[in-house]
Amino acid sequence: MSRYWSKVVHGLTPYVPGEQPKLPNLVKLNTNESPYGPSKRVLDALRAEVGDTLRLYPDPGSDKLRTAIAKRHELTAEQVFVGNGSDEVLAHVFLALLKHDAPVLFPDITYSFYPVYCGLYGIEYQPVPLNAKFEIDVADYRRDNGGIIFPNPNAPTGQLVPLAEIERLLKANMSSVVVIDEAYVDFGGVSCVPLIKQYPQLLVTHTLSKSRALAGLRVGYATGNTNLIEALNRVKDSFNSYPLDRFAQAGAAAAMEDEDYFNAMCRKVIDSKARLVADLTELGFEVLPSAANFIFARFPGRDGADIAAKLRERSIIVRHFRNPPRISPFMRITIGTNEQCSGLVDALRAIV
Ligand SMILES: Cc1ncc(COP(=O)(O)O)c(C=O)c1O
Repeated sequence: MSRYWSKVVHGLTPYVPGEQPKLPNLVKLNTNESPYGPSKRVLDALRAEVGDTLRLYPDPGSDKLRTAIAKRHELTAEQVFVGNGSDEVLAHVFLALLKHDAPVLFPDITYSFYPVYCGLYGIEYQPVPLNAKFEIDVADYRRDNGGIIFPNPNAPTGQLVPLAEIERLLKANMSSVVVIDEAYVDFGGVSCVPLIKQYPQLLVTHTLSKSRALAGLRVGYATGNTNLIEALNRVKDSFNSYPLDRFAQAGAAAAMEDEDYFNAMCRKVIDSKARLVADLTELGFEVLPSAANFIFARFPGRDGADIAAKLRERSIIVRHFRNPPRISPFMRITIGTNEQCSGLVDALRAIV
């Protein structure tokens, strides 16, 4: 607290990111990063950027990158917006498209940055409870709103809303923006990006931090009707015209172009997930169905925090959420390599 702070800062409850430990040799299964490095084509593209041109500002429109993203999704570059991680894209989305008189709707158990953006921009919101099976039921979103946003698959539960249900939601909600945050869709979901051609109120966000193994480069994007993208550009150019530096633009474009590497890495993670779910189920864990690169699991009668602390003593870190109390028994575990997953299963066997 300080008398020099603005009223807004006094009122903020900032997001708390997952731990990025400074200790070596930890098995890091807490922030849903890829256990594999990025494509070699990305590393080559980054090396090619080292040189004299660093004295010049990067392309403010990130044209090459937006063209690569557009090509991958069969869109035009004008239907793509890029930002410094999807967190920045989402921040602009809240200000540009979700700040209205009626409250924004999002699940009560979801990405915990959403309420933080609402606090930052003074946006009213109404949490919509997940059903008894920890699922999003789109029928619960049929009420007056200033916009709807949720991740699909949801985080931290990993559960997927089928495409037909997303379309049902869009049909019932034509007059405010619907944002589907597809940060994890590549690990078992079906993207709703093709629906943006039919639904002018649909905006879909993606990140290169997970399935493209580029959390360290900070690149995310949104796809939608050009009218929605224009709103995001207006905010971006009132905030920071150069959110992506030369490395981020070049590396991300190369990642979007290397479809073979992307597919192979997603496949490996999906296969490791199937093995891990089978092993944990055999140990007696309950694991929610996951279409993401993480699972949400609990052991009957045990507290998630306690198991997570015991894993940490064995140099394995996973994520635990104390609130809301309904999810306190669970741990969110990122899918690692097969070797890391086996080490986790051995440790959990000893703990439970
Ligand atoms: C649901 C969801 N959306 C968006 C993000 C932000 O990703 P990034 O800012 O790395 O693109 C995350 C990060 O973990 C997430 O879980």
